[in-house]
Amino acid sequence: SGMFTYDPGYTSTASCDSKITFIDGENSELRYRGYDIADLAGKHSFLDVCYLLMRGSLPTEDASKNFDLEIRHRSFLNEGLIRIFDALPDGAHPMATMGAATMALAAFYKDHLNLEDDKQFKIMRRRIVAKMPTIAAMAYRNSIGTPLIYPDVNRYFTENFLYMLRAYPGGSMKRLPDGTNEEIKQIEVDALDAIFTLHADHEQNASTTTVRNVGSTEAHPYVAISSGIAALWGSAHGGANEKVMDQLKMIGDIKNVPSFIAKAKDRNDPFRLMGFGHRVYKNRDPRAECLKGLQDQLRVELKLDSKLLDIAAAVEEAALSDDYFKERGLYPNIDFYSGVILTALKIPVEMFTPIFVIGRTPGWISQWSELKQDPKHKIARPRQLYTGN
Ligand code: CMC
Repeated sequence: SGMFTYDPGYTSTASCDSKITFIDGENSELRYRGYDIADLAGKHSFLDVCYLLMRGSLPTEDASKNFDLEIRHRSFLNEGLIRIFDALPDGAHPMATMGAATMALAAFYKDHLNLEDDKQFKIMRRRIVAKMPTIAAMAYRNSIGTPLIYPDVNRYFTENFLYMLRAYPGGSMKRLPDGTNEEIKQIEVDALDAIFTLHADHEQNASTTTVRNVGSTEAHPYVAISSGIAALWGSAHGGANEKVMDQLKMIGDIKNVPSFIAKAKDRNDPFRLMGFGHRVYKNRDPRAECLKGLQDQLRVELKLDSKLLDIAAAVEEAALSDDYFKERGLYPNIDFYSGVILTALKIPVEMFTPIFVIGRTPGWISQWSELKQDPKHKIARPRQLYTGN
């Protein structure tokens, strides 16, 4: 019937109006609250960017300090929640564990749901940002069967996450042959901080749309965020970063690049080049451009794996000069570049998508909160074209 617009995948439907993020896919532009991402990533802390997304403007110096301090103090998980990790087996993918733990947060903060109360509303947002790195790091440690590390209030958000991933029980870091400890380097914190910022929001992508859809039914915000985690896990979305790394390793050598490109182009083969293509960018992905710059900057200092870099560069060059990719506007996306840097930061590959989650959490919760404050918001309920009989 002609009553409804048929739009599978919502390629031409605006589901809301929003003041948070601006994307111009033709001109490779991405702005958070009016700021170009190139002026944020590596130039402002990720926590300041969280504040920007949630509140609409960058914090003053005092507000920034207070926010940082509050996030540190809110990074702990309830002991009851921590027991959830014990129920999940070694080898569980950290994304599965994170989804479960985030869902369970709703059970712990059920008395704090008076969203008419502005203070509670804001705490609801900040708490989830603060706890996500702890959930991610604990999910990882549980997956490899090592004791969980509690947050350290003396460390900044991003450093704290690296600490929770790497430290030994008791908090000490790896002992080096020269008798010193392998402390977390500032350059590592800065690189990961910039990566978080580049992932922080991306308007109505699949996971954010999921968060808004679940939020539109008046469900608990952390249940909505948990649904966002589920949507992000898929390989067409955030799960692509893990798959890119697998693919680069599978290619193994520059000489194998042409056959992989041929396979990706074969329309009878569902195989896709991971880290390529985007629904909105039919030109360069500005986040990928920033990461490429960061990668070049870190190449020597972080001892990036040059073999993987060479393969990645060869894939990029081959695809960009190929008519199949050109005609379809397929360029490397954010997921194509993050892996090499994360590998140099000694981040295990199954933590790539969890890192996307940590980065995207302020975006999700800002979008949820914008939805709640929008008097026009309605339950998400599309129609269908019935084709049965
Ligand atoms: N390799 C080979 N062909 C591709 C690729 C690819 N990576 N991406 C798209 N195509 C082809 C596709 O086969 C189709 O060809 P044809 O018109 O001949 O049928 C055409 O390009 C358009 O693709 P589409 O699937 O209709 O485009 P979409 O907007 O629905 O999908 C996408 C966008 C990101 C899901 C897709 O490009 C893809 O699967 N890429 C690989 C996974 C990936 O890197 N995802 C990360 C996205 S960026 C950030 C994030 O969300 O994590």
